[in-house]
Amino acid sequence: MEATSSTLLRPLGLLAELTHRCPLGCPYCSNPVALEGRTEELDTATWSRVFVEAAALGVLQVHLSGGEPAARRDLVEITAAARQAGLYTNLITSAVGLPAERLAALAQAGLDHVQISIQDSEAKSADRIAGYEGAFARKRALAAAVVQQGLPLTVNAVVHRANIDRIDAMVDQAVALGASRVEIAHVQYYGWAIPNRAMLMPTPEQVERAREAVVALRDRHQGIIVIDAVVPDYYARYPKPCVGGWGRRSLNVTPSGKVLPCHAAESIPGLEFWSVRAHSLADIWRHSPAFNAFRGTDWMQEPCASCPRRFEDFGGCRCQAFALLGDARATDPVCHLSPNHGLLAELAGERRDAPYVYRRLGGKRAANASILEKESADTEAGDTT
Ligand code: SF4
Ligand code: FES
Repeated sequence: MEATSSTLLRPLGLLAELTHRCPLGCPYCSNPVALEGRTEELDTATWSRVFVEAAALGVLQVHLSGGEPAARRDLVEITAAARQAGLYTNLITSAVGLPAERLAALAQAGLDHVQISIQDSEAKSADRIAGYEGAFARKRALAAAVVQQGLPLTVNAVVHRANIDRIDAMVDQAVALGASRVEIAHVQYYGWAIPNRAMLMPTPEQVERAREAVVALRDRHQGIIVIDAVVPDYYARYPKPCVGGWGRRSLNVTPSGKVLPCHAAESIPGLEFWSVRAHSLADIWRHSPAFNAFRGTDWMQEPCASCPRRFEDFGGCRCQAFALLGDARATDPVCHLSPNHGLLAELAGERRDAPYVYRRLGGKRAANASILEKESADTEAGDTT
């Protein structure tokens, strides 16, 4: 369905995936399994143009993300360009490869906010989950530097079977680090998390204990830190309004310039994505076949098509419907009204203790890990041009 000016909303947020390079190997990374390499990445000038076009389109906030955005040598210039375009800039970082001096340069360039993910409250477990020795210590160091710079800090605690019983300690850690907000984000099963699903899936008892822990933590830390948490998909009765509805409020630019309605959209076969190399952002937002594929409600099947909640949750997540049912138009099976809802309980029951499949570029983890670690060391040593 082609959007008309009366049905088309303005996007508010832009996720700028500056690079897929990252020193960490988190087994739940939301990046696609087929990662884009360094040589395909957009240059500084193109990102600057994209930010100007985004602001003109109505975007208010840009999330500078990756991979690890600090792997880009021009991150300071990119941040300055986003700020000059009038966008609120949020840096989403693993904290590895971003020393305090470079953070200071980013703050100078106009960075508004920093979000750091943590893998656990205990160093050994955190480093094992991240697939990077020393990641825990670097995250703590960068968090301290963020607070020292006077920048607001959000801690993103990604929880799953290995760490969900330490939610209390992770929130206490976020408070101690000086964060004003902590997001308790259950793993979403896209990208690298799909092959790791059985190793990451929490038990129903853990999910219930986590729910109770969040209630107690909100009580204990009231007025000190904002705690965001939602029920994990596989244990929910209704789906989330994924990305606020397809093509309604946000867009995602990949390192090579493809514009997606959500970070996992490339997992749906047959969608045609346009690139900022060939089209303006406004043209893509209005006319790109991928953006128009699931706009509105005409594409919906029953039970969504006649459900009163279809304007609230938009039938849930298209990528999840495709990943689990092979049909991107189906009702997200997270919804208890879906005829396929029982599948989630089956999948949640498949738990296995086995080594993680770590995220990697290319397919040669050992080789890539050492290259990335060297890149990260170069960056920390000041090789940022
Ligand atoms: Fe949402 Fe569809 Fe479920 Fe209704 S049937 S609650 S619109 S997912
Ligand atoms: Fe693609 Fe939810 S992740 S619609």
